[in-house]
Amino acid sequence: MKTPIVIAVTGAAGQISYSLLFRIASGELFGLEQPIILRLLEVTSVLDKLLGVVMELNDCAYPLLQKVISTDDSKLAFNGADYVFLVGAKPRKTGMKRKDLLESNAVIFAEQGKALNAVASRHVKVLVTGNPANTNALITQSNAPDLNSSCFAGMTMLDHNRAINQLAEKCGVRSKDIKNIIVWGNHSETQYPDLHHATVKGQKAFALVDDAWITEDFIPTVQHRGGAILEARGLSSAASAAHAAIVQMRAWALGTKGDDWVSMAVASDGSYGIEKGLFYSFPVRVAVDGEASIVNDLKIEEFSLERMQATEQELKEERMTIRHLL
Ligand code: NAD
Ligand code: LMR
Repeated sequence: MKTPIVIAVTGAAGQISYSLLFRIASGELFGLEQPIILRLLEVTSVLDKLLGVVMELNDCAYPLLQKVISTDDSKLAFNGADYVFLVGAKPRKTGMKRKDLLESNAVIFAEQGKALNAVASRHVKVLVTGNPANTNALITQSNAPDLNSSCFAGMTMLDHNRAINQLAEKCGVRSKDIKNIIVWGNHSETQYPDLHHATVKGQKAFALVDDAWITEDFIPTVQHRGGAILEARGLSSAASAAHAAIVQMRAWALGTKGDDWVSMAVASDGSYGIEKGLFYSFPVRVAVDGEASIVNDLKIEEFSLERMQATEQELKEERMTIRHLL
């Protein structure tokens, strides 16, 4: 039997976790041979509700789930943790932008960054989902100076999957036929979903769709998809967000496939002129040992450059708002 992996999830009684926890515990993240210990973090007032989620987890009798610990103490939750999903944060309501959440959510990530710095595994992988995800990833990382910045990422895989789905629908193919989609920048309406490098069954996507569809349909649909779901459901996306978190963490832990990549908000190393240190979504390849690197040799058209810079600018503005927490 393998040694159990310790996985911490914050916001464990929330919507996203109600899908995420059960998928992790069933083995979807690390496979059917890997035992798991779950540490669940919630605010004190929600621990009673979390108890119900824990009862349900236990009632699944998952063969891989060795232990579930619930707590309101971030140091207990993160102690020795190998993988951490930072989900716990307020979701937006209709009419809000994700950056409107900064004021209420930013302090959570400053506190949790400090706790991770103190007690997490030195090789921990921390995936920030709570919005606004890029800037919250920056806050978490800045408050954990003893951990390498490569331990942190913000979640833009949901946008990546949304872009795959739009292109697959347009071309009448299945999602598995689409490769090398990119989402650049911020997980916000300024994000830039880019088809210049994408392929459909090995053919250049650009040869299959017209420019008007890209600018008037594809890009705005992906940019505004979170808001469209919020409007329709009355609640923000949850199951698709949990799925994206699993896909992104699995790729980050176990490697990307072949020539394909994932979109991930990581600390910029200056690639494509993006300011160093900003958490910006890039195309990222991951080796089987879990080492992630930005794909930094792609040719960028003027059309893309303008959009990449606009979303970088928004990230700089968000950083300015929370500079006291860095
Ligand atoms: P939710 O309100 O259903 O659940 C959030 C949970 O977090 C609540 O149970 C709350 O008690 C808990 N929480 C709050 N502060 C906490 C803290 N300090 N420590 C631990 N737990 C805490 O929200 P949700 O729908 O699960 O969404 C969670 C976050 O994920 C939101 O910010 C949402 O906007 C974001 N989100 C991001 C993406 C993405 O693609 N990056 C996608 C969907 C949702
Ligand atoms: C999403 O993209 O669905 C999430 O970030 C939730 C939201 O507020 O849009």
